[in-house]
Amino acid sequence: MVAKSRGIPLTTLLLILFLSAIVPTSLSDQVLNSKNPRPSSSASSLGSSVAFQIKGNVYPLGYYTVSLAIGNPPKVYDLDIDTGSDLTWVQCDAPCQGCTIPRNRLYKPNGNLVKCGDPLCKAIQSAPNHHCAGPNEQCDYEVEYADQGSSLGVLLRDNIPLKFTNGSLARPILAFGCGYDQKHVGHNPSASTAGVLGLGNGKTSILSQLHSLGLIRNVVGHCLSERGGGFLFFGDQLVPQSGVVWTPLLQSSSTQHYKTGPADLFFDRKPTSVKGLQLIFDSGSSYTYFNSKAHKALVNLVRYGIQVALLLYCLANDNYLPSSVSNV
Ligand SMILES: *[C@@H]1O[C@H](CO)[C@@H](O)[C@H](O)[C@H]1NC(C)=O
Repeated sequence: MVAKSRGIPLTTLLLILFLSAIVPTSLSDQVLNSKNPRPSSSASSLGSSVAFQIKGNVYPLGYYTVSLAIGNPPKVYDLDIDTGSDLTWVQCDAPCQGCTIPRNRLYKPNGNLVKCGDPLCKAIQSAPNHHCAGPNEQCDYEVEYADQGSSLGVLLRDNIPLKFTNGSLARPILAFGCGYDQKHVGHNPSASTAGVLGLGNGKTSILSQLHSLGLIRNVVGHCLSERGGGFLFFGDQLVPQSGVVWTPLLQSSSTQHYKTGPADLFFDRKPTSVKGLQLIFDSGSSYTYFNSKAHKALVNLVRYGIQVALLLYCLANDNYLPSSVSNV
């Protein structure tokens, strides 16, 4: 789900990798119009990585989740993975509207609130309608998604135990939201998930926090299987050395999204009138969407393709035509 722009500044991303089996490779190659760039830093890996197993599918569920442990002792939360937004939040054990999971699985704050003067609070409150009463007040957040779903709550910090691929277990203290007022529209998030794992490239993202603690390189990757499931990783240790198509990301100050382009649409390996598209990678959005111009052009091409194919089929099998019937 794409979060509406909150004016969060982009942080530099060393390299980002999205492996997706959902879009057929041939189509994505053509859509991305890749010039085959390769990040120069991928050869020498630094630090370690964390990998998560992904559950879920595009259909019928419409979302992908990972289980994240939070707290000490840790509790496990199923979170909707979302590269289209920054803030991670879980349903809050406070007077709550729109909390959908059982009370004993909600996150209980224990005096670990982030203060309003904290730099991370400033990063989520950069929207003009946010105010802090004072630097020691709690830090409220509100995140609204493109499908009108939303979460309102308070920012806090807690241990998030992570097992790294080098065998170490770390317990970094990371900031996330405790959401006590959720609006659910469609799958956003689904009733069974405890919240959202925000993987955008803004400062508040778990990814950026792990990077600024020096635990990982600023890299996120996911591999989604067509049959459902897959895996998600932070850090650059699991980046495959071959069999990957690379495309540069656009640097733009207006949004926190991972964007690429300009891309030209090819159909049946031939160029079309649709050129110069900018594409957003958004794991929180169930389907791939085109703007209406590109969509119309694609539907017309498919329709025309079907008509031509039918005509050719009929000509090749003319015993099905009425004229041949009369010869019987
Ligand atoms: C494993 O990686 C983590 C994260 O980068 C690091 O903090 C830790 O020191 C590493 N452990 C070993 C044994 O190298």
